[in-house]
Amino acid sequence: MLKYLLYTIAALVAVSLVGSGIHLYRVAQKNKKEMSQYEGPAVAVDQSLGKVLVVYYSLSGHTKEIAEKIKDKTGGDIYEIKTLEKIDTSPWFYLTLKQQVKKSSYPALVGEFPDFSAYDVVFVGAPVWWYTVATPVFSFLQVADFQGKKVVPFSTQGSNAGTFFEDFAAHAQNAKILKGASFNNLSDKYRQAEDNKISIWINAVAAEMK
Ligand SMILES: Cc1cc2nc3c(=O)[nH]c(=O)nc-3n(C[C@H](O)[C@H](O)[C@H](O)COP(=O)(O)O)c2cc1C
Repeated sequence: MLKYLLYTIAALVAVSLVGSGIHLYRVAQKNKKEMSQYEGPAVAVDQSLGKVLVVYYSLSGHTKEIAEKIKDKTGGDIYEIKTLEKIDTSPWFYLTLKQQVKKSSYPALVGEFPDFSAYDVVFVGAPVWWYTVATPVFSFLQVADFQGKKVVPFSTQGSNAGTFFEDFAAHAQNAKILKGASFNNLSDKYRQAEDNKISIWINAVAAEMK
């Protein structure tokens, strides 16, 4: 009996390892195809967006990296969304955060809110958590009133942004949403291509603002 139980467990582990291997392979192929269109010499941001604010939340640094690149390329200001309580990163935190997402239970934030009135455009970036916007950014959107401001969402994720952009647009109060962009976590070999992707996107946003 015990022998069969062990065989079953081993078979389940093997199936899940093969499944995640196939998933990782597919994601790698998709990233390669997407980023190949951005390879080549460095692309500059050659259009002005006026006064830019980049607002972001980042738990492990990826969204922060993209936010800082946008800030550098546009000469804008930057504002980090911070939670009052530190996000628990114990081994089961994925599930804790899943509950937050499911119950729309958004964490309290800390820090003085930015004044959007001084800006022509506000970029807002967040990680994807469970196929939607990370809960601290939902907290931010609950209190932010963009009052007709141009708002540009961007996401970072492993591979699947789910309904991030639809959910963002539904919660960004009184915003005029412009073309967003989505960034998968990539290995260092794609840094230049990712940089070009950001520049091309910013130029497209500038064109949309005209
Ligand atoms: C709780 C949690 C849920 C996540 N859910 C998704 C998801 O649904 N889809 C996805 O592609 N990546 C998902 N990820 C991966 C993150 O979106 C990705 O690593 C992101 O770039 C992290 O950004 P940060 O480093 O700025 O925190 C999840 C990560 C966490 C912590």
